[in-house]
Amino acid sequence: MQIRLDNLERSYGKVHAVDGISLFVPQNRIFGIIGRSGAGKSTLVRLMSLLETPDSGQVLYDDRRVDNLTKQDLIAQRRKIGMIFQNFNLFSSRTAGQNIAYPMEICGYQKSQIETRVQELLNLVGLEDRNDAPISTLSGGQKQRVAIARALACKPEVLFCDEATSALDPQTTKSILELIKDIQKKMNLTVVMITHQMEVVRDACDFVAVLDNGRIVEEGTVKELFAHPKTDVSKDFLSHLTTVDADRSSMVFWSNVPGRYTLRFAGATADSPVISELARQYGVVFNIRGGGIQHVGGDDFGTLICDISGDPQAVKVSIEKLKENNIVVEEANA
Ligand SMILES: Nc1ncnc2c1ncn2[C@@H]1O[C@H](COP(=O)(O)OP(=O)(O)O)[C@@H](O)[C@H]1O
Ligand SMILES: [Mg+2]
Repeated sequence: MQIRLDNLERSYGKVHAVDGISLFVPQNRIFGIIGRSGAGKSTLVRLMSLLETPDSGQVLYDDRRVDNLTKQDLIAQRRKIGMIFQNFNLFSSRTAGQNIAYPMEICGYQKSQIETRVQELLNLVGLEDRNDAPISTLSGGQKQRVAIARALACKPEVLFCDEATSALDPQTTKSILELIKDIQKKMNLTVVMITHQMEVVRDACDFVAVLDNGRIVEEGTVKELFAHPKTDVSKDFLSHLTTVDADRSSMVFWSNVPGRYTLRFAGATADSPVISELARQYGVVFNIRGGGIQHVGGDDFGTLICDISGDPQAVKVSIEKLKENNIVVEEANA
């Protein structure tokens, strides 16, 4: 399913939470929407998922207007929408299996049908033996897996994720993103991923829109954003990226010491002698520990893993200069 937003507006009193947003979300892809806290992300996703009505503007699913449906049609349409949240929103009084069964009970599936489907879904999310587990006995990552299974129970056409990994540690985040990518392919889902973490965009999304103050300030492929960020908001997000256990298979390492910085080069930056110039100008030393090609947002980036040493101020300035040259600098978690 594809989604089109046409000049959406939503205010709460004097707060213009969504301020004229038009956007196209293609089908069968993972579309990221990134923004700082208070940017309007949750409001936007509530409008897109028909939980709330806009003050003005339109929401279209496959070219059909859906923001003004009658109550009955809205209920039917909402059954085709899956949603997951930062805090999971599971019923603590129900087991994992009963949580997953819930939407199917509402939709009037038969009991035997529900049992089969619950087991299918538990298998899909890697919790095959946790059907009877009380929610309180599950880890954060497992809870999100149950929430994902529940969201998929009635075979939705679209999955909305509002900060789905924000409460999880980096490793668990990675595994949940892998799961969502896997499910997206298997089920031909359209996925909308709301986040304040550029890592999520880097590791899971095909397209991205940057939201600031209720407006889209930048949008395109993830590769474009990484290679040529246009706005200060995007540059700021990129400057805080951390490297999480990068895929090392396509890399060559000539040192066992993990480098602190990961530099990513795209397109035209790759052939300018930025590094040697910085070394000369600021007297910093680049100790290169590995390099190769890595996949970001479905595209290849030249990647160098290195340490940068020297006068701390000079190191800082050098990193700024790298970023000015459109090289994405990621710093390993200390
Ligand atoms: N139900 C609401 N009532 C009043 N103000 C709201 C409501 N929901 C959101 N807001 C305000 O709208 C702005 C955007 O909020 P939100 O969409 O939650 O942003 P984000 O999810 O990006 O952090 C904020 O200023 C927030 O305080
Ligand atoms: Mg939010």
